Amino acid sequence: MQLSADLIQKAVSDAHRAAMATKGGANADYIPYLASVPSELCGVAVVTVDGDAFVAGDTGFGFAIESISKVFTLALVMDQIGPEAVRTKVGADPTGLPFNSVMALELHGGKPLSPLVNAGAIATASLVPGESADECWARILDMQSRFAGRPIELSDAVNTSEQTTNFHNRAIAWLLYSAGSCYSDPMRAVDVYTRQCSTLITAVDLATMGATLAAGGINPSSKQRVIGADNIPHILAEMTMEGLYTASGDWAYTVGLPGKSGVGGGLLAVAPGSLAIAAFAPPLDSAGNSVRGQVAVSQVARSLGLNLYAAPAGGAS
Ligand code: DON
Repeated sequence: MQLSADLIQKAVSDAHRAAMATKGGANADYIPYLASVPSELCGVAVVTVDGDAFVAGDTGFGFAIESISKVFTLALVMDQIGPEAVRTKVGADPTGLPFNSVMALELHGGKPLSPLVNAGAIATASLVPGESADECWARILDMQSRFAGRPIELSDAVNTSEQTTNFHNRAIAWLLYSAGSCYSDPMRAVDVYTRQCSTLITAVDLATMGATLAAGGINPSSKQRVIGADNIPHILAEMTMEGLYTASGDWAYTVGLPGKSGVGGGLLAVAPGSLAIAAFAPPLDSAGNSVRGQVAVSQVARSLGLNLYAAPAGGAS
């Protein structure tokens, strides 16, 4: 299907309308800041590999990146140590259990299986090179900014809210450490991980970050190479397996694009070689995925005929 600007804009506007008509879900409240974000906010954005942006709704609102940050720290670490070391040290399998599951760790000898669950993301943060937490953090922030094509900033309000309530993640870090799956001081790893979850991005930023993945690692706005092209298939595979946690299989079955959600209400899907679709709407379902975000992103993907598992129109020649 030829994706004209009119077609993409109509898909985005229609999807935003459909999302707004969808009820249900609730803001995350285990991080107090997230409970205070207005629930009715809803934005949908598409950015193409050529850097064209299409928006509807609240696409300028800065929301907490949360778990979507896991993708970009993974990209950073993969560039440093390579995909095989990531697979050996962290893993490349779905857990089938909630994103903060301790049981998943216990079932697999302390191996997190995926860099996109909390345990695996803390392990990944522990692999970011640096002499101190601040040095590791500077690298992560720079990576998020290069993906977004503009300086991304930490929210002190989000970070304080998380750092003062992240006891479960600290327990996970000590469990990882006891099993030999945390590669720095565990409290330093959680500190860095918590900061990476506490930056503010807009739906347009998120779509740009996804478009950088879709474009083989080159940011379509800055035209800078952000990560090596060879790493992209591994990152997208991790997103397919665990990007929407226990709903990842349903998402692959119904949408067919690698995705990533965050408890801040953000949701991203990547159509390699073409574009990225992002949505932001705070109310979540029981798996921790934005209810309206899933409606919006899946509708845009369907309208534009984007599904990795579908043969191109016309089939084989
Ligand atoms: O560590 C946490 O629990 C949060 N900072 C991030 C979790 C998250 O976003 C899960 N995604 N749906």
